[in-house]
Amino acid sequence: MNVQAIRQALVSLPENASESIVDTLFVPEFLSALGFGPMERVPQYSTGGGSRGGNTRVVDYAVRYNTTEDDTFVETQKNPYLLLELKGKDINLSEGSRHYQSTVKQLKYYLNAENCQSVQWGIITNSVNLQLFRKHGKVVYPSTKCLEINIDNIIEVVKKIREKIENTPRALTVAIYNNKGGVGKTTTTVNLAATLTLCKKKTLIVDFDPNQRDLTNSLGIKSGKETFYSCLKTKNSDTNLRGVIHSHVMRNKRTNESLGFDVIPADEDLLDKSERELRQEIKVTRLYQILNNLKSQYDYILIDSPPNWRFFSVSAVYAADVILIPTKHNNIFSLENAATAIKQYIPEVQEKRQDGGPIALPIFLNGEKITEPQRETAYQAIDSILEKAKREDKFDLTPYFYPRYTQSRRDRHIFDLPSYAHIANAAFSRIPAAYKDRTAREYYLSLAREYFLQ
Ligand SMILES: Nc1ncnc2c1ncn2[C@@H]1O[C@H](COP(=O)(O)OP(=O)(O)OP(=O)(O)O)[C@@H](O)[C@H]1O
Ligand SMILES: [Mg+2]
Repeated sequence: MNVQAIRQALVSLPENASESIVDTLFVPEFLSALGFGPMERVPQYSTGGGSRGGNTRVVDYAVRYNTTEDDTFVETQKNPYLLLELKGKDINLSEGSRHYQSTVKQLKYYLNAENCQSVQWGIITNSVNLQLFRKHGKVVYPSTKCLEINIDNIIEVVKKIREKIENTPRALTVAIYNNKGGVGKTTTTVNLAATLTLCKKKTLIVDFDPNQRDLTNSLGIKSGKETFYSCLKTKNSDTNLRGVIHSHVMRNKRTNESLGFDVIPADEDLLDKSERELRQEIKVTRLYQILNNLKSQYDYILIDSPPNWRFFSVSAVYAADVILIPTKHNNIFSLENAATAIKQYIPEVQEKRQDGGPIALPIFLNGEKITEPQRETAYQAIDSILEKAKREDKFDLTPYFYPRYTQSRRDRHIFDLPSYAHIANAAFSRIPAAYKDRTAREYYLSLAREYFLQ
């Protein structure tokens, strides 16, 4: 990396430099420093589709490493790897500002556009602030905080970003969490895992609810010789990890194909420990470390967590890239608890993590029949939760409850996973409902498509 050139570029920028000046003086050096040469960058890249609110869908830069001499990104313009949305210094991109929010929205929109299916990363910057986002399937989540850059830290920041984009993690880690009990966390974890494997995604489940062990029991898994407790307790015990991962494989009688996922079962050794003992013996960051080392082997890692905010749930949320929150339309506590997790618990963990994560996905309604009048009652309850959060906590929960809501289009869409007897009955068999029953499979496939699959 030409260390001086990128510093020099920052120094040369006038105060309040417009976007075109930042583009001319800073961007070429910045992209070079990230490892993308002139033949690997396309400015004004058309992300596909029509237009959006009158703007054509053009991102400032798409870049990708050329693979062979015949495959030059500038020529093919196919399979971009990273998108850069640029602003001028005159636009305030500090975290939480109005322009920050609209620019993140804009980037997310491009990342999920038609010509950007192959994209893995996105950056927003105005040469004062900068943030890196990872895209996994449909999910976009922060990979750094919104950083302030200056001549003293630019080299370090560029190094950190380069290291991340050159080592793209394979797995998305999802904690399934609500501190309300019985909302379908375990059921969602098992059936979502099964559905993802039907889509050829390699999946690992972690049962991190040792007091109930519902997931482990429902699949009929017995713990092996190695205990997960010993891995959690000792640093550098990753060599023992193979011994705790259980392959849950079934044969499809019709096609004779084998189907399945891996499971780290709940460990009985963790059962009777007090909160104080647990926290003394195991750091809440330990699960995160262990799962990070497994990310290269899976497409998805799903963590089933208990209905409280103690050691196991805190560890699960800390370990996750994103949190999936089941709720029930007719249970106000499940909705209020979802709000508390989003405005309080998850930000607490973000403070500790220092990389912008984890983030909550929009909530969904699980496993209860819903009539139109009931839906209206649920909307009223949610509206008052949103209002209260805005008034008392200055927190806008709207995107987490009504992800499609805008001022002009007041769409109160919430994903709904219906109640279905075969889903409930399968809790007593070793085979997830999504494998056994076509309707169950369709329900969970639409959940997977709503949140994860592009
Ligand atoms: N979509 C659904 N249709 C029918 N029954 C469902 C559905 N989702 C969950 N259930 C049933 O609801 C009950 C509670 O579900 P589950 O055990 O998954 O909740 P949980 O949130 O994991 O509970 P806990 O907080 O105790 O861990 C179970 O009996 C399960 O079979
Ligand atoms: Mg459970």
